[in-house]
Amino acid sequence: MNHVSKTLEQRLLAAPVVPLIQADDPAVAVKTANALKEGGLSVIEVVLRTDAAVDCMEAIVKQTEGLIVGAGTVLTVEQAQNVVARGAQFVVSPGLVDGVAEFCQSQSVPIYAGTMTAGEVQRAYALGLRTVKFFPAKLAGGVPMLKAFSSVFRDMQFMPTGGVSAANLHEFLALPSVIACGGSWLTPADAIAADDYNAITELAREAVAIAQTARPLEK
Ligand code: 3PG
Repeated sequence: MNHVSKTLEQRLLAAPVVPLIQADDPAVAVKTANALKEGGLSVIEVVLRTDAAVDCMEAIVKQTEGLIVGAGTVLTVEQAQNVVARGAQFVVSPGLVDGVAEFCQSQSVPIYAGTMTAGEVQRAYALGLRTVKFFPAKLAGGVPMLKAFSSVFRDMQFMPTGGVSAANLHEFLALPSVIACGGSWLTPADAIAADDYNAITELAREAVAIAQTARPLEK
């Protein structure tokens, strides 16, 4: 395991929750990231769903300290190359594209490719991936589906996202095969629009507290 993966994994063991930031404005993205950090979350995914997303990610990388910042919703190899050049420390995709995975592996950048079927998990396995995103987690079968996957993919770890919230975080994190959960529930658009960054810090604190009850002694 390389240095980045190891640091990332250690952070996720301490607080196994990855908040998503979707922003149009780098200044807003930086404030959101700092609010999440204040609440105890230090691994952050900036999703490529706005024109300014890469600028937002780069601003967080350059203007904050102590965070591990990745890019999410990375669909193409070109996007993967761009975000890594601009400072992404990990890459997340909704699905599994061999070229994206292979590029990230060639750069030693952790890649969390989305899977939701046994075939996709097995393809990821064949590419050498041992941690994948499970998306959309709730619709794709949630905890029972992950238990079924883990019975056959014994050394695969999963990051469920899509429909994860404070209401079901505990049940996902209670699974030994779940390395962390991701989601947008920690960064509600209405709180950001209202400049209510305390609300984001509180949501982060709540997630950290839930994680501690799910994994009191870590895994
Ligand atoms: C993702 O990209 O992982 C999903 O959009 C997260 O889904 P959520 O908005 O339901 O948390």
